[in-house]
Amino acid sequence: MSGPERRAVAVVDVGSVRRNCVRLADGLAGGARLCAVVKADGYGHGAVECARAALAGSASWIAVAAAAEAAELRDEFPQTPLLTMGALAEPELALALEAESDVAVWKPQQAELVAARGLESGASPRVHVKYDSGMGRLGERDADAIRRLIEMVAGDDRLELAGFWTHFATADELDSAFFDRQLDRFTALVDLVRTEHPGVLVHAANSAATLRDPVAHFDMVRCGVGIYGLDPFQGDPGDHGLEPALELRSYVADVKRFGEGDSAGYGRRWRAPATTCVGVLPIGYGDGVRRGLTNNADVLVDGRRHPLVGTVSMDNVTIELGAETAVEPGAAAVLIGAQGDDRILCEEMARRLDSINYEVTCGISQRVPRVHVRSEGPAVPAPRSE
Ligand SMILES: Cc1ncc(COP(=O)(O)O)c(C=O)c1O
Repeated sequence: MSGPERRAVAVVDVGSVRRNCVRLADGLAGGARLCAVVKADGYGHGAVECARAALAGSASWIAVAAAAEAAELRDEFPQTPLLTMGALAEPELALALEAESDVAVWKPQQAELVAARGLESGASPRVHVKYDSGMGRLGERDADAIRRLIEMVAGDDRLELAGFWTHFATADELDSAFFDRQLDRFTALVDLVRTEHPGVLVHAANSAATLRDPVAHFDMVRCGVGIYGLDPFQGDPGDHGLEPALELRSYVADVKRFGEGDSAGYGRRWRAPATTCVGVLPIGYGDGVRRGLTNNADVLVDGRRHPLVGTVSMDNVTIELGAETAVEPGAAAVLIGAQGDDRILCEEMARRLDSINYEVTCGISQRVPRVHVRSEGPAVPAPRSE
């Protein structure tokens, strides 16, 4: 069969994920480990495939947010240390422990519940005590309460004190002094934990913190966005030696000739300023191409950019090809990724949406099949000097 095989596809190069992990692991201070964060189906890239690639690329831990995610990964990776980072309702806690996942706690009542659940299953659950050093989300804010909780967990022979951790609110803002404040607050407690409980795994850094400050590496870093070759600072991933792993592709299903004033799509939000041609692509917001891209994106066809014109609908978008186009139905179209000498980064699409790359890839819907390929690829590019 020749021509396109699918209306839309997300092609994920797990070779890129592996190389991104090698690059991130290479930069770690003092033998810190790399934990690959593959929650939300690997940020839309496919959790199992990306976890496998990350482990091949020297990650040694996997982290997720939800118990069901932990259960799925445990089936595939029976021996790999696994951390469920999110809040767990009671039935979810049972599922996470059944999956032999480490879990987060930050309140005495949670620790008690985890201990009781563990006793039922005959295991000693491994817990990571979470300090809210300034994120204002999960975790205990009060340093004294954290110290008491650490002693409670360490002194409870139904539990294993496995980790002490925090999460940064502004690691991706390079001029943020708040990042340093959080790091200082956390470090003060780390010194105490390390003296009293050597062997406890200390971790704090996401991708941005990993790239910006080796002091934040501690015993392990938890990288999500970076392993997929997305830039945590919303610029060019290549500046950090990272390769985007995902391409979002469709094709030109039809080419129509428009006269001046003819309109494309719902609400007639674009009208041809002069005679031109319009290509129709069978991909829309039902696939995760957000409506905010209406008259506000480029698509690569025949190796060059064409403006997305008219309203993004559920199943289709339209692009202007110009009066003299040579583009024919069946031509490959790239919404995120490279074609010819040009490329459209996920970060570009995110900027147009006033969003972030995380939301763009997580938003690619289940209707879009993920096709995993494995390039051997070039050597990991050296990061450009800042
Ligand atoms: C607690 C926690 N740690 C680590 C990460 C990974 O962050 P990033 O994708 O920015 O590397 C996340 C993701 O949001 C998270 O919630």
